[in-house]
Amino acid sequence: MMPYDPRIPYDELPPLPPARDVETKNVLKQCLGATRALAELKGIGDLIPNQAILINAIPLQEAKLSSEIENIVTTQDELYKAALDEGMTADPQTKEVLRYRTALRHGFNEISKNRFSIGLIREVCSILRGADMDFRSQSENVFIGNPITRQVRYTPPSGGAAVSEKLDNLEQFLLLPGDEGPDPLVRMAMAHYQFEAIHPFIDGNGRSGRILNILYLIHSGLLKIPVLYLSRYIIRTKSEYYKLLRGVTENDSWEPWILYILKGIEETAVWTKERVEAIRGLFEDTVLLCREKAPKVYSKELIEAIFAQPYCKISFLTEAGIAKRQSASLYLKELERLGILQSEKRGRESIYKHLALLDILTR
Ligand SMILES: Nc1ncnc2c1ncn2[C@@H]1O[C@H](COP(=O)(O)OP(=O)(O)O)[C@@H](O)[C@H]1O
Ligand SMILES: [Mg+2]
Repeated sequence: MMPYDPRIPYDELPPLPPARDVETKNVLKQCLGATRALAELKGIGDLIPNQAILINAIPLQEAKLSSEIENIVTTQDELYKAALDEGMTADPQTKEVLRYRTALRHGFNEISKNRFSIGLIREVCSILRGADMDFRSQSENVFIGNPITRQVRYTPPSGGAAVSEKLDNLEQFLLLPGDEGPDPLVRMAMAHYQFEAIHPFIDGNGRSGRILNILYLIHSGLLKIPVLYLSRYIIRTKSEYYKLLRGVTENDSWEPWILYILKGIEETAVWTKERVEAIRGLFEDTVLLCREKAPKVYSKELIEAIFAQPYCKISFLTEAGIAKRQSASLYLKELERLGILQSEKRGRESIYKHLALLDILTR
């Protein structure tokens, strides 16, 4: 075999599963830890009264982090302000981050209809890029490396036939019945490498690949709602992420890569569970406080509305049918008086910030 050359399109990328068994003792042991932590997270998610809280607030935070890995950067304040009107007035980077959340939602809705395919990832990528994305054609080659020095670290397979053949194989691998393929978490780890190595799009591969991960966890029944995201872990260990991806390509080093992802799943599941518990605790405290101190204003729907995302405005309440404009405004003012929300003027309207929730989401 020729030595690996990062400048040549990697058309030799082997199909999955590899000929050699990758489920070593170490892998299985780490897999057990990750599976256990994930099961606990799944259980706690069920206990949250309104799942929309988790489906909105947590994915928005992930959208920010996953985009940050790709140098698409926004601040918390810009992001949550933009989320108030779905990005109508936001700068391009913030808009792109919001589209990530839209893409994730679309994927989740489709998965809930039991529709899982690589084609779905094309839709996801199109939404997040804000343009119709096709798999790379024969003339569309890309490389991974430094765009300024043009130092090449990896060149994915050529566009066209090579990409579509490898994607078909990846899809089949992911759809193998449970007992015929590796453990679902091991499979997710392997598929993440494979997807990034195929690099099916001109751009957006990192982000759509990370969305693929969560969709696959839901598809496999390991999670019910999209709350487990590795981006925070990846940001913290970024050079390892890249190094271990290259290790699989250059040295067939599956074990360290799989262990890295499994460890990330375990750590992140434990951390997310704490976060979900903290949100639940804050929700219950807020209900109690509001019931006691402002019983005329209290409704469960009102509290849920201020938990859907950290910033809120009057029209959220009117649109949710909680109150007409004037009362809705009074309700939010009352919540501010109780110290639950904090208002800020934006043009003619007021934004209400739920800082305690923001704190949990971003700590
Ligand atoms: N050596 C490598 N081999 C395979 N994939 C890699 C390698 N280095 C980085 N990647 C993947 O490429 C992603 C970036 O690809 P890109 O298409 O620019 O995604 P995005 O638009 O979401 O920025 C990284 O997040 C990583 O997952
Ligand atoms: Mg990119």
